[in-house]
Amino acid sequence: MKELAKKIKHAPKSKIRELFDLAAGRSDVISLGIGQPDFLTPRPAIEGNIEALNKNITYYAPTRGIPELLEQLEQKLKTINRIETSWRDNIILTNGGSQALNLTYASIFNPGDEIIFSSPNFISYFYLAAFFDVKVIEIERRSNFEPDIDKMKNSITDKTKAILINSPNNPTGYSLNKKELDEIADMVKQNDLYLISDEVYENYLYNDAKHTSPASLKDMFNRTIVINAMSKSYSATGFRLGYIAANKEIIDVMEKYHQYTAAGTNHAAQYGFLRALQMESSFFDEILVSFDERRLLAFNRLSEMGFEVVKPNGAFYIMPKIDKFGLTGAEFSKRIMKEQAVAIVPGNVFGSYSENMVRMSYATKLEKLMEAMDRIEKFINVI
Ligand SMILES: Cc1ncc(COP(=O)(O)O)c(C=O)c1O
Repeated sequence: MKELAKKIKHAPKSKIRELFDLAAGRSDVISLGIGQPDFLTPRPAIEGNIEALNKNITYYAPTRGIPELLEQLEQKLKTINRIETSWRDNIILTNGGSQALNLTYASIFNPGDEIIFSSPNFISYFYLAAFFDVKVIEIERRSNFEPDIDKMKNSITDKTKAILINSPNNPTGYSLNKKELDEIADMVKQNDLYLISDEVYENYLYNDAKHTSPASLKDMFNRTIVINAMSKSYSATGFRLGYIAANKEIIDVMEKYHQYTAAGTNHAAQYGFLRALQMESSFFDEILVSFDERRLLAFNRLSEMGFEVVKPNGAFYIMPKIDKFGLTGAEFSKRIMKEQAVAIVPGNVFGSYSENMVRMSYATKLEKLMEAMDRIEKFINVI
């Protein structure tokens, strides 16, 4: 048989999915591997979806999404993110944040272009680059996970097309402050680049951390591709709905690609997303308090056990270093799964600078998280 597509064939299978596979069917496993909040999808989202199905809304939706939802997103972008858009020109609905990223790479890059982002970072950024023949320039984060903006600046070449940021960040939990965002925005403008801003964790911020959308900064909307999704904010990863906000020219190119590759998103589910967006944002207050409690529990327990760990201020991940235990992240993850039935993602999944780290998600019930921490303590006491 002739060879299948090299770029896809040689991409490793998702290590996170492999971890789920290892855990499948084992009731003793506590998963700190999953990037999915554990609260129930709010009822209005579910009811909106069911009502639409009951009205037989089961046929193709407009490629960019239903007007009611796009208008609601225009409002959300204006009031929450302080981004002025026109729903007719600047917003497209996608199949989750994942397809928003795919559409972005497909529409921005030509083969040979370069993208710069901090590392460790979310895995898809690396493989999408490989699929679209884009060269990744990975810039190692500083030890507290902040971006090394000077190094980013020095890595810009005439092939650099875009900088990508993800704040709050998966896997480090780092959230960019306003000063860092201003510096990144200046770098983007001075070098005539695009800024891809993945904001899927915008609601998960602790202490005084605040989310600023870089597209709201002066002269930045035209250069910024805002990526967001229903998945994390509404605990609705299975709805597979997300969206992009960008300038008209970019959205027009995206629409073409979307038309021929996905032909739109789930029609009835869009009414669920609409109802979710119409909820008072206070529905999230209690959830955030609970996530903060888990964040502090994970940080305090790991610190007490002697892990070198940065206190995260966003998302729901924590990423300790584990080299003092004499294991790589991959070995740590494999052994703790086998010996203590805890699923933890090895750091090397997230780039070249995190082989000595592991990523834990604390989006799990407090009692389970406590039990997982007890098991981690047992594990490190015997290695
Ligand atoms: C940073 C980041 N961006 C995008 C996504 C993809 O989101 P979705 O599940 O909506 O496709 C994820 C999922 O984990 C993520 O962590």
